[in-house]
Formats: sequence, structure tokens, C-alpha cells
Amino acid sequence: MTDVKRKALEDLRSQRWFAADNMRGFAHRQRMQQQGLDREEFMGRPVIGILNTWSELSPCHAHLRERAAAVKRGVLQAGGYPLELPALSLGEVMVKPTTMMYRNFLAIEAEELLRSLPLDGAVLMGGCDKTTPGLVMGALSMDLPVIYCPAGTMLNDRYKGQTVGAGTHTRKYWDEYAVGNIGRQEWIALEARMTRAPGTCNTMGTASTMTAIVEAMGLSLPGASSLPAMDAGHTRMAWACGRRITDMVWEDLRPSRLLTQGSLRNGIVAYMALGGSTNAAVHLMAMAGRAGLALALDDLDAIARDVPVLANLFPSGDRLMEDFHYAGGLPALLNKLRSRLDLGAMTVTGRSLGENIDGTACEDDEVIRDPDRPLKVATPECPEAGLALAVLRGNLCPDGAVIKPSAATPRLLRHTGRALIFDTNEDMLAAMNDPDLDVDADTVLVLRNGGPVGAPGMPEWGNLPIPKKLLRQGVRDMLRLSDARMSGTHYGTCVLHISPEAAVGGPLALLRNGDRITLDVGARRLDMDVPETELQARRATWRAPERTYARGYAKLYQEQVTQAHQGCDFAFLQGTAPTPEPPIY
Ligand code: FES
Ligand code: MG
Repeated sequence: MTDVKRKALEDLRSQRWFAADNMRGFAHRQRMQQQGLDREEFMGRPVIGILNTWSELSPCHAHLRERAAAVKRGVLQAGGYPLELPALSLGEVMVKPTTMMYRNFLAIEAEELLRSLPLDGAVLMGGCDKTTPGLVMGALSMDLPVIYCPAGTMLNDRYKGQTVGAGTHTRKYWDEYAVGNIGRQEWIALEARMTRAPGTCNTMGTASTMTAIVEAMGLSLPGASSLPAMDAGHTRMAWACGRRITDMVWEDLRPSRLLTQGSLRNGIVAYMALGGSTNAAVHLMAMAGRAGLALALDDLDAIARDVPVLANLFPSGDRLMEDFHYAGGLPALLNKLRSRLDLGAMTVTGRSLGENIDGTACEDDEVIRDPDRPLKVATPECPEAGLALAVLRGNLCPDGAVIKPSAATPRLLRHTGRALIFDTNEDMLAAMNDPDLDVDADTVLVLRNGGPVGAPGMPEWGNLPIPKKLLRQGVRDMLRLSDARMSGTHYGTCVLHISPEAAVGGPLALLRNGDRITLDVGARRLDMDVPETELQARRATWRAPERTYARGYAKLYQEQVTQAHQGCDFAFLQGTAPTPEPPIY
């Protein structure tokens, strides 16, 4: 970065704590020395927080304490002083009822850690699904210089000669086990497969979608999001984060200088070209809301129409993140999409995105396709088959719903069938084993009360299992609808994020068993064939379900969470109203 106006020492935020020649300053220095630190170690230099979402119940982040050590080396060598701080660890598979309920909790924690402590900048260490938007949302609101250091991805795995991936193949094998094609012993043996190393899911799930979006928005070092966690290069990347953040403090390179309408768009272009997770549609709204940037679901639909899916990764394709890394990773992908990007957008390197990706070669055109040879192509029967995302409207979802056509069955993207409705996830799961369930392959399975308020937390229930009766007949996909989400590692013809959700009186609440539903992705429509007068009559008798929580965080969540199309942030956290620095006394 040329012509950077460097901060003066007295402008460092941490100086307010450590440089004051009064009793408070004395106490701050004294308490650092209590840990065995000499005052020369931390005084007069940028103090860098390392917000670490490591925990022993966050397997994707199992290596992050070691990586924090590498970050510290980098900070020290660049003349800063690093301090590692634990932050809420959201291990996707472990946390119940759903990590989504705690994303905003982490966002609050990240923002307030940065605000309440003597920090000049921070390295954010996360990667498992919600940790990325959570940390970034908090950092956007606090607006200190930060670099996002993604955990890196799991290694590839192969099973019986086939490439197998986290999440995607779990569901495939579960279906085969359910109908007896896989035996008990093999099922148990499979527990040790598909996730064979620390790191985030090796498919294009929510983790890799979000780390890639954040890199494309300029908040990570180039190539960081596709590095395997167990690659020695990942340790070097962590070290480089430490070096670079220290300089960023002197340059005052804050998120508000990086996140612009252009860089937000760059993130969305990456999302679509990767065939990323539908979850990103929610997180992007929330991040844009924190940055004060305009974004609507329809903007995502428009960019999806323009950007072909180029990355051949599960669940849309058949490769894994390690292959994507060998092919050149995100910089190589972005370099194929230059005309669609804001190349002038500034990044954490102090250079523009265009400069960062200049000359990045793609080493494997099968894994990262050229724009004229995308992963999925439109056919005359199904022009939408290649899209990473489509945003639907209709009398079932006036505020929107999403579907990922590239991971769906093309013939179901235009479909009419009768509704079979479940009001709770438990009822739905129990019914799926019922040999007498009144269902056929054309039935539309509906799950409601799975939204942000209803569940609460909008869990990943939206990939409803196929009823066992139909699995036995060879059925592997059906049209499914919900106000819930779906794991980015999953596939199927699932309409998700129906908004407004049933629990707040969205029209989904008025649907009845047997009503005919029509999905037409080409027209971006999702409708129930019920006359408006009948809907009004049903609305007159509708009663809101009782809120599940009378106290605690979940109560706050149900009271404050916004709808899916608004990002599910808490209403009181949105926006850019200034928050004063804490007084020091
Ligand atoms: Fe952590 Fe998939 S479970 S990234
Ligand atoms: Mg996931």
C-alpha cells in the first residue's frame, strides 16, 4: 500500500489503557505484569486480539490453538503484541438446538470483546459454519482493523474407490442403510470416514461458502479460504495474518474501508460461482445490515442469473475442497470472473482484489470450470438447472423463499403436488418410518414452525428425509418446503427460508393437508392453489403458537430475531448507529 498515512503511537487505542499516567494506567500495566509480562512487551506497540473459537467440542477447529501460536509469531515479528481470547465456539454438529440460534450471540461477543478490551486490531479465527458470519458481523459493528483467518478445510477422503465428503455422503449412506443396502457393521465403520481430519467440511457447505465470501469481500488473505487445515501452508497463512494485521493497525485499515457495495457484490459473485450454501443468503443479509449496505434477496437472484457455477464441488459437483485448493482455490476462480467483479475493491493486503488475483493460474479446468463451460448447463426442459440460487415469491412466500437448483432434481423444479404437512420436526421424523403414510413420489412434503421464531433458531430441518416407504420404491428426491434452513452439504429439491415463517402468521401457517402446491422455478413462483377468500377464512381462525421460552437467551432470541429475508439478526443489532468507546476510569 503506497502513500499510507500511518497512525501515530499516541493514536493507538490500547494506549488509552496502558499509557495513562494515572492510577488506572498503573493498574492496567500492573495486571499485565501479574502474568509475567514485562511492560516493554506490550507498551508502545499495537495490541492484537486473537479471537479464537477453538474448543474441544468444535472438532472443525481442533487445531486453532496451534494456529494461534503461528499468528502470535507473526504479530511479534511485525512489532505488535498478541493476546489470545476465547470466543464462543459453535461446533456445527454438536451445538443444540442449532448453531444458528447462537450466531448472534457470537456476534455480540465478538463486538463487545473488541470494544471492552485494550485492542488495536484483531485476527478472527473461525470457520465452522456460523462462526464466520458471527465473528464478521461483530467486527463490522465495532470496526477495528481485522483479518479473518479461516480454519481451513478437512482433507479429502475416499471410500470403496469413491470420493466421499462430509455431510453430503452421510445422508446418502443413511438412506442406503435405512433400506438395508448397507449393513450394521459397515454403518458403524463409516463413523470414522468422511471427516478424516480437523478442519471445516470438505464439501461446498456453509463453512467453505462463508469463508470464500469473506475472502472475496477482502477480509482474508488471498487463497486463505481454500487451504486445507492440515497443510503446512495453513500455518504459514496464520503467521502472515499476524504480520499483516499489525501493519493494518498502523494503516487504520478498518472493515468500513473494505466492505463496500462493490466488495459485497464480489462476495456474492464468489458465492454463486461456487454453488454455495443457501445459508449464505441469510448471513449476507445480516452482514450487509451491519455494514449499512443495501441488499435484498432479489439482488442475489439477479447475480445468480449472471454468474455460472464454475466450481465442481459436492453437493452440486463431485470433488472436494482439497481438489479446489490444488486447482488454484478462490483466487483462480475469481480470476475467471474478472468482468463480473469490482476489481478495485480494497482488501486486507492493502491492495485491490484485482491486484491480489492478477495472474493466478487455474491448474485444473475440471475442478474450476471456464465460464463458457460451467458445471451445470441449462437445458431446454430446465433452463434453471445450472443456477446456484433462485429466489421465489408467491402466495406461500410473499417475502421470499430460496432454492438451490444446482443441487436439485431438474424435473422437480416445475412441479405440482398435494401438500403433506408436519407441524413439528419430531412428528415429521416419526412419520417418515410409517409404512402406511399417505404419500407418493409427487406429494409435496411440508415442514412448518421451523423458522427463526418458531423453532426457534431456524434449524437445518429443511432437507426432510424421504419416507422409508418411497425409499424402498427407489425414490431419492421429492419436492420439500419449509421455513427452516438446510445444510449446505445437502442436496435435493428443497424450498427453504419461506418468509414470513408460519410461527408469525405467514401464509405457510394457513396451508392444509391436500392443498395443491405449484413450484415454478422458471417463473420464480411458489403458490398454493387456495382462493384468497378461503385463505382469509383460515386466517380468521389462526392462532399463533405459544412461544417456547419464558426466560433466558432463547426468549431474547424469539423477541428480537428478524425474518430470514432480513438476515435473522437481532433488530437492536442492525445498522450503523455509532456506539461510543467505553470510558476508562
Ligand atoms: Fe464444522 Fe461442517 S461441521 S464446517
Ligand atoms: Mg453445515
